[in-house]
Parts: sequence; C-alpha cells; structure tokens
Amino acid sequence: MVIQETLRLYPPAVFVLREVLQDIRFGGVVIPKGTSIQIPISTLHQMTDIWGPDAHEFNPQRFATGITGACKHPQAYMPFGIGVRTCVGQHFAMTELKVVLSLILSKFSFSLSPSYRHSPVSRMVLEPEHGMTLYVKRHY
Ligand code: HEM
Repeated sequence: MVIQETLRLYPPAVFVLREVLQDIRFGGVVIPKGTSIQIPISTLHQMTDIWGPDAHEFNPQRFATGITGACKHPQAYMPFGIGVRTCVGQHFAMTELKVVLSLILSKFSFSLSPSYRHSPVSRMVLEPEHGMTLYVKRHY
C-alpha cells in the first residue's frame, strides 16, 4: 500500500507519449494523423473527481482494498503505463521494491532531515530536486 501510494503521488514516469498513426475519432474528438499525445500520468493520479478530496495527500490506506477500491477508474492508475506497451519490468520492479524496503526496515529506521525541501521535479524521471537527506538509525 505504501509503495502503491508512493507510485501514485510520485510516478517516476510523469507522462507517456503516443503518436497518432491514422486519423481517428476518439469520443467526440477527431485526432489527425501525426498528432503527438502526452498522457499525463501524474495529473491522472491526483484528480479529485477520481481519487476523492484527499487526492493530494499521502494516504496508503486508500489501497486497503486494492486499486479498484482506491479510485473511480482503475485505468487512471498507471505508474507502469497501460495497454500493449505496459512496462515489462513491472513485476520485477514491485518485487525488488518490496525486498529492498523490507531489508532496510528490518535493520534501520529512518526519518527526513529538517533540511529536506520538498520539490519533486521531472527530469528524465521524477526525482527530488535537492536530493533527500535522511537520518538513518540502526536497530540493535
Ligand atoms: C518503479 C519502476 C518502474 C516504473 C515506474 C516504470 C514505468 C514504465 C512505464 C510508464 C512504461 C510505459 C511507457 C509507455 O507506455 O510508453 C514502461 C515501459 C517499459 N519498462 Fe518500465 N518502469 C519501471 C521499471 C522497469 C524495470 C525494472 C524494467 C526492466 C527490468 C523496465 C522495463 C521497461 C520496458 C522494456 C518498457 C517498454 C515496454 C514496451 O514498450 O513494450 N521498467 N515502464
């Protein structure tokens, strides 16, 4: 739930791109061949009409009953993309995250340094603009 909520608020891939290969009508909109479309993952992940009034807050509990329980349209949750080009490393990435997090948490506790400035920035992927200084304490 913590990983899912983190990927919701801070999706490493902020958007995905598609190019229209032939003229299509999508809903009521005609999209001409050659149009480049940006699908804004981070925007979809924070829309209040999809996620509720606390859409901008970090609340892992929203995933207590899975993605369908967390939002109105499960397709709007797409940290790994959606459709035929869905991330092939999705399950590997999720397993790796769980293993690494549980190994760290079994040996250490950590908290943010007071010098941390919250400023997520989209470069190649979404990252903390000024880095993330942590206080790390070993469990004995
Ligand atoms: C948290 C980690 C990761 C995130 C958030 C992520 C996100 C994404 C997203 C959003 C796409 C879709 C791009 C699109 O639709 O245009 C994608 C595709 C892809 N990802 Fe990941 N990814 C992650 C980890 C990985 C890992 C660990 C691997 C490889 C071991 C991987 C390999 C790929 C590949 C090969 C594609 C292209 C699939 C295709 O176009 O058919 N990703 N990823």
